[in-house]
Amino acid sequence: MVMIDNLATQRYCSLFDLPPSGNYRFIEEDILTADMAHICDGSDIVIHLAAVTDAEASLTKKDEVERVNVLGTEKVARACIQTGAALLFVSTTSVYGGGLAEIDESCDESDLRPQSPYAASKLRAELRLREMAQSEGLRHLTCRFGTIFGTSPGMRFHTAINKFCWQAVNELPITVWRTALDQQRPYLDLGDAVAAIAFLMNRSLFAGEVFNVLTLNTSVRDVLEKISAHAATSSIQFIDSPIMNLYSSHVANRKLINLGFEYKGTLQEGVVQTLHLLRMLASSAMSGMKGRTREMAWRHGQ
Ligand SMILES: NC(=O)c1ccc[n+]([C@@H]2O[C@H](COP(=O)([O-])OP(=O)(O)OC[C@H]3O[C@@H](n4cnc5c(N)ncnc54)[C@H](O)[C@@H]3O)[C@@H](O)[C@H]2O)c1
Repeated sequence: MVMIDNLATQRYCSLFDLPPSGNYRFIEEDILTADMAHICDGSDIVIHLAAVTDAEASLTKKDEVERVNVLGTEKVARACIQTGAALLFVSTTSVYGGGLAEIDESCDESDLRPQSPYAASKLRAELRLREMAQSEGLRHLTCRFGTIFGTSPGMRFHTAINKFCWQAVNELPITVWRTALDQQRPYLDLGDAVAAIAFLMNRSLFAGEVFNVLTLNTSVRDVLEKISAHAATSSIQFIDSPIMNLYSSHVANRKLINLGFEYKGTLQEGVVQTLHLLRMLASSAMSGMKGRTREMAWRHGQ
């Protein structure tokens, strides 16, 4: 397996503890400048995950988001066309934007209302791939992932569930977007994400279709209830975000289930495992320190 990443987000730790059964080659390069056709040569399937991913931060770096997420995707797709590889593109359920009681992959294009430059760039990349399939014969599929939860070496904390668990373990106020407490949002257990990619690859469904991939739709209120059952409750602090919106977003996951895919993750398990991991890190980082010093050192990352 060949992996390419420019390590822009410094996530070296994602390369730790790879399953020993695999055979890996890692290339530290930028998809925008690398010889992608050379790198993809000999591959049957290319899984395209590289992206600028922080939706809120994408407001201040629209050009970079456009370059990496749209032009980068186009470049990877062109390499697939040149080498005959099929492309599995990972997009996001944020392309929907909300506003309907429920939405699925067959919705009208006018119902796709991305709320951030990040989500808009993912939608433009999807559309570009569709054009390349029609005009240049690209074989591809698009997965629209819900927001990931669950533990991994490279997990990030600017997404809802992980961030709330972090704040709860550190006894910090839980920061919730003012409009979000009771809005539904799609979430995806990390194990389900990996299993869905394997499921779609094994069935070779590269005829240009889109698949929503999400374990459940739930609200921030539900997430906080699960967290407070296992962690001391912190106060909620309502904050504003330029990308919050007034709409709930209930996204259907039936299409993949109807093909025989089984979601196995649960919010309960994801929250418990994340809290457990963070507590273990906190206690091992602080072993040897005492009382207040220990508490302050962990909170301030010393
Ligand atoms: N995590 C989620 O909740 C979520 C939800 C929906 C979709 N997705 C999609 O899944 C994919 C993976 O997301 P993630 O959560 O692992 O995010 P991430 O930010 O951890 O991973 C993206 C990776 O892309 C790399 N990268 C960025 N620009 C690059 C470039 N020019 N060349 C090579 N590598 C580059 C970064 O270094 C990073 O390792 C992304 O495409 C994202 O849009 C993620």
